[in-house]
Amino acid sequence: MTIFVTGGAGYIGSHTIIELLNNGYDVVAADNFINSKPEAVKRIKELAQRDFVFYEMDVRDSVKLEKVFTENKIDCVIHFAGLKAVGESVSKPLEYYENNLNSAIALCEAMKKHNVSRIIFSSSATVYSGDNTMPLTEDSHTGGCINPYGWTKYMCEQILTDTVNANEGWAVALLRYFNPIGAHESGRIGEDPQDIPNNLMPFVAQTAVGKFTHINVKGTDYDTPDGTCIRDYIHVVDLAEGHVAAVKYIQNQTGVKIINLGTGRGVSVLELISAFEEATGVNIKKENAPRRPGDLPVSYASTEKAKKELAWSAKKTLKEACADSWRWQKSNPNGYE
Ligand code: NAD
Ligand code: WQD
Repeated sequence: MTIFVTGGAGYIGSHTIIELLNNGYDVVAADNFINSKPEAVKRIKELAQRDFVFYEMDVRDSVKLEKVFTENKIDCVIHFAGLKAVGESVSKPLEYYENNLNSAIALCEAMKKHNVSRIIFSSSATVYSGDNTMPLTEDSHTGGCINPYGWTKYMCEQILTDTVNANEGWAVALLRYFNPIGAHESGRIGEDPQDIPNNLMPFVAQTAVGKFTHINVKGTDYDTPDGTCIRDYIHVVDLAEGHVAAVKYIQNQTGVKIINLGTGRGVSVLELISAFEEATGVNIKKENAPRRPGDLPVSYASTEKAKKELAWSAKKTLKEACADSWRWQKSNPNGYE
């Protein structure tokens, strides 16, 4: 079975391709390297010890998509490609809507033309609104997004839902990821943010490697046990395995399947920093800082549906995730450069 992976050189895409190849799937991948490097593709091949077809292309380019679907017999699509920097989406909303929505639309058009009826989409816990009780189930309220990035995920979910409902026999898995961290245990591939990291774990790892003097703990007066925000940090390899489970699952389904991919475990900012220190032996200097606008105090997943439908659950510990993030950061202080 051949899986077309868009955004295959990115953080989650690269780890997922390895798991797909290890599980006997053939892979065709595409990326325009807007937020990744060709070196990632080389390293995926090296780690999996298997080759796969790769197209350097923009997923919005329908001519190139036509080539992909003509030259390969695609059975299922995993759509990772997209822009994901929350802050940048506020200053460049049109780029975010243009890229994230049009890539999904172009992909669906190509699928339709070539009778490919199975797609897995990278959605996000960011689609859940702030008025929910924890844990977040797939039926929790969505919308009320606080940045254009979040709205692109919300709108893509709607575009895919409408497309699947209009095309008999189609199936989509809308996978809502919580907070992916960690790296492949080899330390050869990992998260490679282009500028100053927005997210907590890459900032902690880059502080440990000496790129920053300290980490700002953004908000220490939340109504949580230690006053800092609580998130559901999931190891990227667990997440990648979740995609393999979703590929298997979706073959026998039709319609729209929404599934959270998280651990179900809430971890505070201070707990994450302590776990990193414990796993690596590196001391991280921290300073209390004001709240980051828009942050929800608490967000973690209900994992029941993923267990029931995908027969999948996250296996790796927070400590393993910290050790793996560190191994990647330490051996690649400048990412893939
Ligand atoms: P990433 O930026 O590392 O990977 C995305 C890849 O898509 C990059 O390699 C980029 O070059 C490529 N790309 C972007 N636009 C493209 C286009 N038009 N054509 C071809 N390639 C294009 O991000 P990631 O962390 O691996 O995230 C993958 C997906 O998961 C994204 O859609 C993201 O929004 C979603 N997601 C990520 C997180 C997270 O915290 N990392 C959480 C929830 C959802
Ligand atoms: C976690 C906690 C920060 C940096 C984001 C996106 C979301 C999703 C995952 C894609 C928060 C605190 C952070 C720092 C800090 N991505 N923090 N100091 O906000 O849950 O989600 O990534 O879909 O859309 O918004 O994750 O890692 O940015 O922050 O104290 O230097 O760490 O305030 O409480 P978040 P995060």
